[in-house]
Amino acid sequence: MNKNHRPMSGFVLVLGLLLCLPWATGLAQTPSGKPTAYSEKGADSCLQCHNETSKFPVLPIFKTKHAQPADQRTPFAGLQCEGCHGPYSEHPNMLKFGPGSKLTAEKKNQICLQCHESDNRMGWKGGPHENSDVACADCHRVHVDRDPVLTVADQPEVCFNCHKKQRADSYKASVHPIRYDKMACSECHNTHGSLTTGVLVKPTLNETCYTCHAEKRGPFLWEHAPVAEDCSLCHRPHGSNHPALLVKRPPLLCQQCHSTGHASIPHTGAGLPGGSPSEFLLAKGCLNCHSQVHGSNHPSGVKLMR
Ligand code: HEC
Ligand code: HEC
Ligand code: HEC
Ligand code: HEC
Ligand code: HEC
Ligand code: HEC
Ligand code: HEC
Ligand code: HEC
Ligand code: HEC
Ligand code: HEC
Repeated sequence: MNKNHRPMSGFVLVLGLLLCLPWATGLAQTPSGKPTAYSEKGADSCLQCHNETSKFPVLPIFKTKHAQPADQRTPFAGLQCEGCHGPYSEHPNMLKFGPGSKLTAEKKNQICLQCHESDNRMGWKGGPHENSDVACADCHRVHVDRDPVLTVADQPEVCFNCHKKQRADSYKASVHPIRYDKMACSECHNTHGSLTTGVLVKPTLNETCYTCHAEKRGPFLWEHAPVAEDCSLCHRPHGSNHPALLVKRPPLLCQQCHSTGHASIPHTGAGLPGGSPSEFLLAKGCLNCHSQVHGSNHPSGVKLMR
């Protein structure tokens, strides 16, 4: 009986060790390999208390890319919870990320950047969010199965928490379809940082617009100078109460630059008693005749009329 049992239990023991080995060695070591006050059992020890009943819902993290022990790069292949929150020996004063945290943004970000420095985070250092002490965890949620800032529908709310002006703009009459969940801020902005003012995704403002409005790039036989120069001379990106996101309505829009010639002189003598406005100023005004405001490819489109 005993003789039969021994090899069997030996096998179970070895199997058990083999299964535990990557687990155990990964846990009680820092990246430098020194033994520490990290807990031997990793997440299991935390989950005794931080379970379904705990105030802060930790468990959804197991549905995310961070909780993939098979992927050597993830926290769950190493120190697990403590990879972000620091050693259990510090409990309950562990590294805290959410509301009420006493850590500086820089300290919190160092933890994430240990692993994320080399990703597409080139512009982070010196970018506007880093400069203003915004933390990764101000935008990212790691204890949810879908991080809201990574979805088109939920991202704007995250940004609006801090960017109130853009929230107000998003309710204006003419907008990019952000509040209809069809577009995210990150389609124009690289929020981690980029070399342009306004951290745009492309090297210039116009290049950013052309990614979706390619037909405005031309080349045109008859170019309208301000279009090639800067779309924002006439358009606001986030919202306007004028049609087509315009900064002003025509004719005022056009008269900012075209103050001479037929364009800006209202009829006074002719027309209705009391002086009617010029036909140039009626309705869409200038656009009634100069309809090709972005440029024309018609042989006789020099005045942008066809
Ligand atoms: C013996 C039970 C227990 C264990 C084990 C435990 N915690 Fe906690 N932890 C608590 C309680 C209770 C609180 C305070 C109430 C709360 O926020 O849920 C807390 C708070 C925290 C906080 C917030 C700290 C703060 O300043 O508010 C973090 C982060 C945390 N625990 C992480 C961990 C991690 C990571 C582990 C495993 C290494 C762990 N805990 C193990 C019971 C436990
Ligand atoms: C990738 C880093 C990371 C890992 C791994 C991680 N957390 Fe967190 N934890 C965070 C961040 C960031 C927050 C802030 C809230 C959020 O992002 O959802 C947080 C919030 C918490 C809180 C609420 C207190 C606070 O910091 O705001 C507790 C408690 C907690 N985590 C426990 C755990 C436990 C237990 C585990 C392991 C099962 C774990 N965490 C794994 C990053 C991590
Ligand atoms: C121990 C290394 C490690 C740490 C620490 C770490 N991460 Fe990660 N993170 C990863 C890996 C690995 C992935 C998966 C990357 C992939 O699949 O390409 C990942 C993925 C992500 C993703 C993308 C999730 C998705 O669904 O695409 C976000 C966002 C993220 N991490 C944010 C954070 C934040 C915020 C912190 C700090 C609170 C943090 N990470 C800490 C290793 C880490
Ligand atoms: C201002 C909000 C904001 C801050 C702060 C922020 N992120 Fe992001 N992050 C985003 C957005 C938005 C995306 C999605 C980008 C996209 O779709 O192009 C993203 C994507 C990611 C991804 C997944 C895609 C990728 O690029 O690999 C990771 C990982 C990530 N962020 C990590 C971090 C880390 C680490 C920090 C802190 C150093 C951080 N983020 C700070 C908004 C933010
Ligand atoms: C925790 C607050 C916070 C959150 C959340 C946040 N930002 Fe910011 N953002 C700031 C601060 C602070 C600045 C720098 C001061 C300013 O320009 O208002 C800034 C600056 C910017 C700038 C201007 C850059 C420049 O060069 O002028 C852009 C664009 C921007 N954020 C986009 C976003 C987007 C997109 C999101 C959501 C994915 C977001 N922010 C989320 C706080 C935040
Ligand atoms: C259609 C492209 C586009 C979208 C979508 C977009 N932005 Fe912008 N944003 C711009 C441009 C262009 C600028 C001006 C950049 C410059 O100053 O050269 C800008 C500037 C900003 C600034 C700097 C302050 C300012 O108003 O000049 C902030 C903050 C900002 N955007 C936040 C956001 C947020 C938050 C969202 C999502 C709700 C968003 N943006 C969506 C194109 C866009
Ligand atoms: C990610 C794609 C994308 C980018 C980048 C983009 N747009 Fe748009 N734009 C759209 C979509 C989608 C619409 C809505 C089309 C519709 O409703 O039929 C739109 C509509 C518009 C309109 C018409 C709005 C109205 O009320 O009729 C203008 C003007 C405009 N965009 C200008 C710009 C400018 C200027 C830029 C650069 C700062 C830009 N767009 C960048 C996708 C984009
Ligand atoms: C000189 C002023 C001016 C400049 C500069 C300008 N636009 Fe416009 N844009 C207008 C006017 C005016 C309308 C309204 C046209 C109408 O109602 O028929 C318009 C309408 C639009 C529309 C919606 C209708 C359509 O034609 O698709 C888009 C998209 C657009 N512009 C994109 C751009 C982009 C992208 C740039 C930069 C490459 C740009 N605009 C530069 C004046 C301008
Ligand atoms: C930001 C300044 C600016 C705005 C706003 C502007 N334009 Fe222009 N426009 C110019 C410049 C610069 C030229 C090139 C003038 C030249 O070559 O002599 C031009 C050329 C033209 C021409 C061709 C003139 C010629 O002699 O070939 C027409 C027509 C025209 N614009 C109409 C309009 C209309 C209509 C609007 C309003 C929707 C408008 N412009 C808004 C700056 C502007
Ligand atoms: C009823 C049609 C009509 C309307 C409305 C109109 N234009 Fe014109 N515009 C013309 C014609 C036709 C020409 C060509 C005149 C010529 O070749 O002598 C012209 C020429 C121009 C030129 C080129 C300079 C010149 O004198 O040749 C500019 C700039 C211009 N218009 C701007 C405007 C602006 C700005 C508005 C609105 C305030 C406007 N136009 C409204 C028909 C119109």
